[in-house]
Amino acid sequence: MILVTGGAGFIGSNFVLDWLARGSEPLVNLDKLTYAGNPGNLAAVENDPRLVFVQGDIADRALVTQLLRDHQPRAVVNFAAESHVDRSIDGPGAFIQTNVVGTFHLLEEVRRYWQGLAEPERGRFRFLHVSTDEVYGSLGREDPAFAETTAYAPNSPYSASKAASDHLIRAWHHTYGLPTLTSNCSNNYGPRQFPEKLIPLMIHNALQGKALPVYGDGANVRDWVYVEDHCDAIGAILARGRPGETYNIGGNAEKTNLQVVHALCDLLAELRPGTDYRALITFVTDRPGHDLRYAIDGAKIARELGWQPRESFASGLRKTVQWYLANQSWVNSVTSGEYQQWVDRNYATRAVA
Ligand code: NAD
Ligand code: TYD
Repeated sequence: MILVTGGAGFIGSNFVLDWLARGSEPLVNLDKLTYAGNPGNLAAVENDPRLVFVQGDIADRALVTQLLRDHQPRAVVNFAAESHVDRSIDGPGAFIQTNVVGTFHLLEEVRRYWQGLAEPERGRFRFLHVSTDEVYGSLGREDPAFAETTAYAPNSPYSASKAASDHLIRAWHHTYGLPTLTSNCSNNYGPRQFPEKLIPLMIHNALQGKALPVYGDGANVRDWVYVEDHCDAIGAILARGRPGETYNIGGNAEKTNLQVVHALCDLLAELRPGTDYRALITFVTDRPGHDLRYAIDGAKIARELGWQPRESFASGLRKTVQWYLANQSWVNSVTSGEYQQWVDRNYATRAVA
């Protein structure tokens, strides 16, 4: 059995669904169900006897201890986090609490549990921390892509909190010998992504005929990974990664934000014709401290684990748009109440540039 945290969020739920579909071992999902966590993401497996769902916080040490004792997992995969850069600018406190303090408490309880294991379980145990390429900071247009040896230089409260948690993971391995693994992945997209992030937000707004708010000049670059590829890479790292190592995961798909939004508009024009979606594009005030470019050098994970992304950006984006078109009730269920308050807070103050 494995313990997953944050398995009701975007990437975590895709991982849980994929894990169970592959016929793998049972799984406990510990998730606080913040605004980003949605039990509906796991509706397809809610009656699967291999899945145990527990609502709770990774910082709740008594609960984590009890789960470890009761379920005796052979691995922990930590997805739980506050994950949105704009929200971290609006209010960084929750990011420090969950991403730094929460990871610390989880690590401490896992260390105690692991130290109490007998061999061979102790040697086989793994703690996989799911992190981001944003810890490396921002690249110039011509800079080489991020490698695992690139110095950390986080720029946003979000990336600083993830960088801090990565350092804790590193130290717990170095000092206590805890068999940790860290993955640093670039921007994900795909089914079940909360519509605060670029791609689902643009799809959601476009379908409602609302403005498509592009920050700054739209020339910032991200390396887009289809979420199933990310989940597949996590599986490979868990199975074959070397304890104490970090692995970068990328999609070989560097795009400017404007290229992404144009591609979305063109797909929607094909699949849901009748609107001039490109005419909805609106340039708005830039994000403070906006990182210019992220790009991943995926040589290490390809060389050591034989992993590379399967999905092209064109095929992944088409699947994503099709999923959102077919799952409008999911979108409606997550865009009421709190979501509307967030949209008002983040976009009302962005003057049209
Ligand atoms: P998400 O915001 O969609 O989901 C986060 C999940 O964690 C939610 O289900 C939420 O309820 C849960 N959670 C939050 N605080 C918690 C706490 N204190 N205790 C227990 N559960 C808690 O995030 P995501 O996009 O699925 O990202 C998952 C992980 O992957 C994060 O660690 C993120 O930093 C990392 N990551 C994300 C991306 C991306 O593009 N989305 C890229 C690279 C890495
Ligand atoms: P986002 O999905 O928030 O991911 P991240 O900031 O972690 O890379 O944003 C992706 C890019 O899209 C980023 O350069 C900011 C930009 N962006 C917009 O232009 N408009 C928006 O409304 C949002 C949410 C993001």
